[in-house]
Amino acid sequence: MINPKIITIDGPAGAGKSTLAKEIAKQFGYVHLDSGALYRAIGYGCKLAGVDLKNREAVLKVAENLKVEFLPDGRVLLNGKDVTTKIRTPEGGLLASQVAQFPEVREIVVKLLRRMAKGKKIVIDGRDAGTYIFPNAELKIYLTASPEERARRRYEELKKKGYSVTYEEVLKEVVERDRQDENRPFAPLRIPDGAVVIDTTGKSLEEVLLQVKELIDP
Ligand code: CDP
Repeated sequence: MINPKIITIDGPAGAGKSTLAKEIAKQFGYVHLDSGALYRAIGYGCKLAGVDLKNREAVLKVAENLKVEFLPDGRVLLNGKDVTTKIRTPEGGLLASQVAQFPEVREIVVKLLRRMAKGKKIVIDGRDAGTYIFPNAELKIYLTASPEERARRRYEELKKKGYSVTYEEVLKEVVERDRQDENRPFAPLRIPDGAVVIDTTGKSLEEVLLQVKELIDP
């Protein structure tokens, strides 16, 4: 068992990263950094500004001028406005994945995350947390599950929030996002060296948590 200063959780959409990160934060006293929320906020900011997502310069400008705040209660503010639920839609995921392709955008986000982590014990979830942002993290976790199970979880989550989507639409979005994230040239989604790989297919959050708790000093 170890007492890590930084815990990274990477993996594809719907693997359960943010739920696990929140639980670790609560039970072990870590600050949770949701790196995806930053890409989602930039994607959403571009949409609000009517920016063409293929226009690198324009996307970069939005990213540079963006003010994102994570409140302790989990809310995300974009330029002072609460966008917590607005960025968590399937469209928000695809927008995020598109802006996340640009290395310059990633540099802005990575700098911000490293700054937010200074002097704190953090648990961060994302796609490149253990490979690129914090390659020296003491504990790296890679969470995965079958695409069908991940899409089913996302579908249930969205239905609960009142969105009218079909399972097929969600599966298509999840598969498309995985393809984009795994194939981008800069900091693609990969299993980090030395990561503990957990396949959560058919497992409950409690089961996964038990497995992770065995790795961390209480
Ligand atoms: O919750 P979910 O895994 O579906 O998505 P998220 O963590 O909010 O990330 C949304 C998108 O942002 C991902 O599909 C990636 O394209 C991008 N992302 C990234 O490139 N690098 C990160 N560290 C986090 C997110």
